[in-house]
Amino acid sequence: MDIGSATVKLVELKERKGGQFQLVRIGVEPLSPEAIVDGSIMDSSLVVDAIQKLNDQTGVKSASFATSVSGHSVIIKKIELPVMEPEELAESIQWEAEQHIPFDINDVRLDYVTLTGPEEMAVGAEQMEVLLVAVKREKVNDYVSVISQSGKSPTVVDVDAFAIQNAYELNYDLDPLKVVALINIGAGVTNINIIARGQSVFWRDLSTGGNQFTEALQREFNLSFDQAELLKRGESVGSYSASDARKVLDGVSAEMANEIQKTFDFFAATSSEGAVDELVLSGGGALTLNLQEVLRERFGVPTELLNPFRRIHFKETDFNREWLESIAPMLAVTVGLAIRKVGDGKINLLAEGRRPVVARKAKPTLGLGGQDPNNLLVVAGFVLGALAVGGWWYQLNAELTARQRQVKAAQRRYAELEPIIKQVEEFKKKNDDLERKVQVIKDLKARQKGPVRIMDHVSRALPELVWLEDMSVIGATLNLRGKAFNTNAVAAFIENLGEVEEFKEPDPKNIQIVGREGNVYDFQMSITVRPPKLDGADEDVEAES
Ligand SMILES: Nc1ncnc2c1ncn2[C@@H]1O[C@H](COP(=O)(O)OP(=O)(O)OP(=O)(O)O)[C@@H](O)[C@H]1O
Ligand SMILES: [Mg+2]
Repeated sequence: MDIGSATVKLVELKERKGGQFQLVRIGVEPLSPEAIVDGSIMDSSLVVDAIQKLNDQTGVKSASFATSVSGHSVIIKKIELPVMEPEELAESIQWEAEQHIPFDINDVRLDYVTLTGPEEMAVGAEQMEVLLVAVKREKVNDYVSVISQSGKSPTVVDVDAFAIQNAYELNYDLDPLKVVALINIGAGVTNINIIARGQSVFWRDLSTGGNQFTEALQREFNLSFDQAELLKRGESVGSYSASDARKVLDGVSAEMANEIQKTFDFFAATSSEGAVDELVLSGGGALTLNLQEVLRERFGVPTELLNPFRRIHFKETDFNREWLESIAPMLAVTVGLAIRKVGDGKINLLAEGRRPVVARKAKPTLGLGGQDPNNLLVVAGFVLGALAVGGWWYQLNAELTARQRQVKAAQRRYAELEPIIKQVEEFKKKNDDLERKVQVIKDLKARQKGPVRIMDHVSRALPELVWLEDMSVIGATLNLRGKAFNTNAVAAFIENLGEVEEFKEPDPKNIQIVGREGNVYDFQMSITVRPPKLDGADEDVEAES
């Protein structure tokens, strides 16, 4: 089911022997332009109604639906990684994706496919290419939800550009020497997917499409949206005929060619694949009168419409060939989705980038013990049990890996921060020392046992790791009591004091270490104070008790 902004399209195929498909059901239902705007579902009830109508009209049997998303919120990246085992890739892809996706990784659904084949890996390739797709979780959920609400089960969510490629590969032979541009022109979006060497090498979604033509006709002839749509499809509206419309349409086609040209220029500048050799057009917009011719002339390369039913069988009694062919290009995405299967190794945003590693390993062959149905039941029970345990194990393992990654990240962060933490601790210690000194001086000041000038000298002489607990000046004697972290610090203090002119050289006899507690020494000392020189205003040092 292709949920476009102009039409919802449904195709059901039946697989025949030899990998061929037969068309079983098909339906197209128009959607009001306000239901989906800019690739976002704005009015889900309108979309659910359209889906339900299609389900009823076609009588589709399959319960499981594949759908796709497109537009600027779809991120597609090709990334290079060292060659690794699929299990390892599955575990690390989330982390890798974080480096390449401009959204919070928790807000997106992502999936990936490995482009480097096993043959290249076998001949010793060191790097491998991985195609990564990420889409805002909310957008995927919206598309999934409208299908669920119609009573069907959404099992695959792909991207429009890759769905067209599926349809092209199913119906045409890929020429590995040619560079083919698949251009799907919808109503609001044009998806471009360039194929070279049999692989998708470039993608771009342009915000242009069939609406551009309709709007130009509306402006030119002052018509309603619906009238302009009719005129665009070749019907006369009032006095305006298809030939009146033609000039306006050709102008828009030329603008569209410019947009496509810009994309090709960008492709040429960023890749070594060479020029585009062929254009293959799809989407309802590709049916616009004369657009194909305008593009063919502009790019000078073969240009054709993609017929997604080219190799699909259908009963002429069930489906009108002419009708089918007239709308075929519009159903390219839908056919590309209808051939998808869960677990087919292609992009499925519902797989969440957590591919079931166990399921991708070589299948072990089980001895089924003949055709005894009991044996089959036992085997089925065993397989179901194993799947349940496998699923449970896988879940636990994924959680464990995620936790291990978090622990590693935290350890890395701690290693980065450790030197800074140490520095902060040192600063804190120094700060504490300083605060202690300031406090002592404050206390001393409060007690005012020594004249201010003497206090000032003493505090200046205090080295690091020494602090005072008491100071008094009695007559001409300065008594100090304090603590120090080591005796060298005390020595440094004495030396500093000795340099003060008003203090007589401290007499070692008067200096005592009176106690010790761990690394902290208690000391006391007394120093004789000389009377200050009276040389001006500094005469506040007269000794006092
Ligand atoms: N015969 C036609 N001539 C011209 N334009 C047509 C014709 N048939 C359909 N269209 C245009 O094709 C567009 C619809 O195509 P399509 O169904 O591929 O778009 P969509 O998937 O709904 O849109 P999108 O993918 O942009 O959300 C509309 O703009 C419609 O007017
Ligand atoms: Mg579309």
